[in-house]
This record gives sequence, C-alpha cells and structure tokens, in this order.
Amino acid sequence: MTRRALESLRSQRWFASNDMRGFAHRQRTQQMGMRREEFLGKPVIGILNTWSEMSPCHAHLRDRAEAVKRGVWQAGGYPVELPALSVGEVMVKPTTMLYRNFLAMEAEELLRSHPIDGAVLLGGCDKSTPGLLMGAFSVDLPVIYCPAGPMSNGQWRGQKTGAGTHTKKYWDELRAGGITQADWVDLESRMTRSAGTCNTMGTASTMTSIVDAMGLTLPGASSLPACDSGHPRMASTCGSRIVEMVWEDLKPSTFITRASFLNGVAAYMAMGGSTNAAVHLIAMARRAGVDLTLEDLADMAGRVPVLANLFPSGSYLMEDFYFAGGLSALLNKVRPLLDLSCRTVTGGTLGDSLADAPCWNDDVIRDVANPVVPLEKGRTLALLKGNLAPNGAVMKSSAANPKFLRHTGPALVFDDPGTMNRVLDDPGLDVTEDHVIVLRNAGPVGAPGMPEWGNLPIPKKLLKQGVRDMVRLCDGRMSGTHYGSCILHISPEAAVGGPLALLQTGDLVRLDVAAGTLDMLVDDAEIARRRAAWKPTAYRYERSFTALYQQHVSQAHEGCDFDFLTGTAPVPDPVIY
Ligand code: FES
Ligand code: MG
Repeated sequence: MTRRALESLRSQRWFASNDMRGFAHRQRTQQMGMRREEFLGKPVIGILNTWSEMSPCHAHLRDRAEAVKRGVWQAGGYPVELPALSVGEVMVKPTTMLYRNFLAMEAEELLRSHPIDGAVLLGGCDKSTPGLLMGAFSVDLPVIYCPAGPMSNGQWRGQKTGAGTHTKKYWDELRAGGITQADWVDLESRMTRSAGTCNTMGTASTMTSIVDAMGLTLPGASSLPACDSGHPRMASTCGSRIVEMVWEDLKPSTFITRASFLNGVAAYMAMGGSTNAAVHLIAMARRAGVDLTLEDLADMAGRVPVLANLFPSGSYLMEDFYFAGGLSALLNKVRPLLDLSCRTVTGGTLGDSLADAPCWNDDVIRDVANPVVPLEKGRTLALLKGNLAPNGAVMKSSAANPKFLRHTGPALVFDDPGTMNRVLDDPGLDVTEDHVIVLRNAGPVGAPGMPEWGNLPIPKKLLKQGVRDMVRLCDGRMSGTHYGSCILHISPEAAVGGPLALLQTGDLVRLDVAAGTLDMLVDDAEIARRRAAWKPTAYRYERSFTALYQQHVSQAHEGCDFDFLTGTAPVPDPVIY
C-alpha cells in the first residue's frame, strides 16, 4: 500500500502554514494542553460521538471514545472527539427519524469544517448509523464505523426478554389481563440490563449488521456485545486502523459500490432485519451515488431466507448470536449470494474477512436448508404495490401471521393516533379480526418525520378474545423489534395526497403478498370523485428544522432524504483565510 505524502493531508492546510492563521491553529491546540510534537505532522482523527444522557443505548460511548483515542495515539495520529446529535430512539419525539437527516448534515459539516483527515463514527441506536454514514459518504473522508453493540440478554421469570419485542408483547398481555400491573412495573427494571442497543433484531442491529457486511466496520464488529471486554479492544483497533486508512487514502468512494450495498442487503435479509432498513439503505445509496431501489431489496428478500433465529422473527437474542459466531458466521452461510471481492475498511476483501468465521450453533444461525422462516412462508421484506400504494409499501411477512398474507377485509380508518387509541379501546367497538386497521398522516410530511406508529394496536375487545394479529396499514414506519401483519411506508403518503388519503371506513382492502399487491376495492370513478374533494390537512410548520424537513424531504421509497443532500455533487473544502 502506498503511503500518501504528509503535505496531502487536509489538516495540513490548517496546521502547516507559516502565516497568522496557521499560528492561531497551532496556538489554540496548545491552549488545550497539547505539545507541538503531539499533533504536528500527524493525521487528525475525528471521533464523532453520539453519546448523551438521553441515549441509554450509547451510555458507554464516552468510555469507548477514550479507547479509540488510545488506538489513534498508538498508531501515530492525533485524536479529537467531536460530539454529535445522539438521536436516542426512546426519548426523542416525535421520532428520531425527523432528525436522521439533521445528524447526517451535522456529521458532514463537522468533518468538512474542521481540520479532520479521517474519522471513527461512534453510533448504533437506530438512526445514528444511517445518519452518520450518510454524512460520511457525502464528505468522503476515510471513516470506520464503530458500532455501540447490543445490550446484554434480558430475562424475566426464566424467560428470555428482548428490548422492544417483549415490551410490546407484555403491553398486549397487560391490556388483555394476562399479567398484572405489579408484573408490568417489575418488568421495567429487568428487561434492559446494560448499556447498548436493543438486543433483538431491531433497527439498530439491522443497520449495524448491514454496514458491517458492506465493509464499513471492522469485520464482525456489529455483533460484539456493548459490555464485552472485546468491545473497547475493538474500539481501540478502530482508532489504530483509521490512521492507516488516512495514509492509504481509503475513503468510501474508493471502495463502496453497488455490490457492497447488495452485500449489505443480503445480510439484511438473512438477519430478518427491520423494515426501517429499506428507507435507510436507499438514502445511504443515494448519498454514495449508487442506484438502489425497493425492487432490489425485494428481489434479494426472495433469494435469502431468514437465517438468524432472533426476536422478533425467531427466538434468541443478540448475545446468543455473538456466541454462535455472529455476523461473519451468518455471512458465510450465504456466501454464494455475496460479492466476496468487495473491499472493506481493512484494506482487504470481504472474502478475506470471512475466511475464518465458523458457526458454533446451527440453531441460532441456521443453514439455508433449514431457515427460521422458509421463503414460501414469509420474507424479511415484501414489496406491495397497487391503487393504495402506487410507489410501494413494505411488509415484513416473516413476522406476520401467514393466514393474513392473502386477505380482504373492511377498512377501519383513523387520521390520528389519539383518536385511534381511544376508539380501539372501546369494548363496544364493532370490529372483527377480518377488519383492516388503517392509520394515515403518519408519513414523512404528515406526522411529520414518519414515526414508528405502524404497529397499530389490536382492539382491546379482540385482544381479550385471544386475537394477537390483524392486517394493519400505515404510511409511517414500525419498530424493527415489533412483529405482526403490518403494511408500512405506504408511498405516496396521505399528507401529500397519496391514495391512502382517499380510503374510507368500510371500503374493502385487498392484500396479496405473493402477488405483491395492495388495493382498495373502490371503482375508479369513485376514487376520482374523492380526489376532487380532497383537501390537505397536515399541519405545515412555518419555522424550525421541521419546516425545512417538510419542504425538502422525499417519500419513503426514495429514502426520506432532503432533495438538496442526495447525489455526489462536489462541495469544495472550506476556504482558510
Ligand atoms: Fe436504541 Fe433500540 S432504542 S437501539
Ligand atoms: Mg427501534
């Protein structure tokens, strides 16, 4: 590997010049207690840290930043930690999705505006992974993604409990009278035992596994539990490796290709990952100048069955997955579908990374011949189109009740979640399990921010009768930790006049997952009449980040990025004067 000249590092523009500005940059670095020898002539490594006390998934990232610094020093770099928006999934309202693009903008501009030569990105909770990497692709400096890692396994009264999945499960049990209020309080302190991201196959592990398979983490790093002593060692290795990557000028544009994305997509499907990844992958691809569509994802979903036996599609947790061999072992099981020649942050190929990655538990990580869900029974991602979703809707059919994969039923339509919750709790509600529950105005513009409202509640009356799944439709998203026959990301959304806006309670909705269709059985003349009478109802913000969001966000099938941020148009490095 040829080593680039020191003079070619962008940080040299700040630190090497013998003028008043160069003096100020050196002077002010020494103001922070650094000796000249500690930073001059060294690659400057940014550590973008999404730690905050509002993000329990990232609670350990302050310590991990120190481990990264250790690695950077050891390899002859100069580390600087830069805080970035934590987008902690649980606390941020209305939804972290509203802020994913904000984090992407912050990451891009932090790296561009400072004298940074390469960066280690510390994140993991759902939107932090796409947010940080969208920004990194756009600024195109050498980066390594250092995933926060999943929290330790949870357990309650001898049963495995997974973050998100079991919260929803026990909430339904509480509403149905299956557990007591005291049980519910007891669960609060027992399900989430340590720092780290959700230990189910939610969006966090979906996204970190995808970017691991794309070659953006150290091989297999996404499966390493947050509180394993290997985790800080991995972080330190990221620090050492990024210094080498700067000297090698190994930036995303030099090795991230459509084939890398398709490797990520194969991992996504084999993991039985979250529907949210469909939005994030397309947004990331568009930043990298790669053509990737919902059809590409659905096509891979039809070739790769769910192999990772993890909640919500299966029955284990991420720590079990790590002990079974982790992502690298899983990737080895789908080798024929991968492009092993793709390069990774190691400088080698994906094939090199997988050379020594055995599987230690064939029940946790299944063989293709023995999948968790066979392709005929359900897929990680099904794409549906029709007069209700001309640009597509998605469904995780592997986590749905198979009897609903072909279904026709009357719609029960809601315009807002408050009314929906009130009505669905009414014990006298006229509803059967054949009804199709619909929540609209939950899309990128309408909600705004496309929140995870799509796992619509089962009517209380039916819960008490033992019903646990129904067909549900939404233009919002659903947590990756949840399950059920939920059709999501309906595009275009109701708030911009998508046909979902024209659906009325009592209309028949027909779903056929095998055929890939989703329609309202309403004749064209009636649809045209309703369209002529339709008026937008979504509240339009006139200031704040949300105003910018509503004016520039794209629809779900396009990745929900801002129109002015997609693509690879060059942005000049800042003028230093
Ligand atoms: Fe952060 Fe699930 S809430 S990863
Ligand atoms: Mg989530």
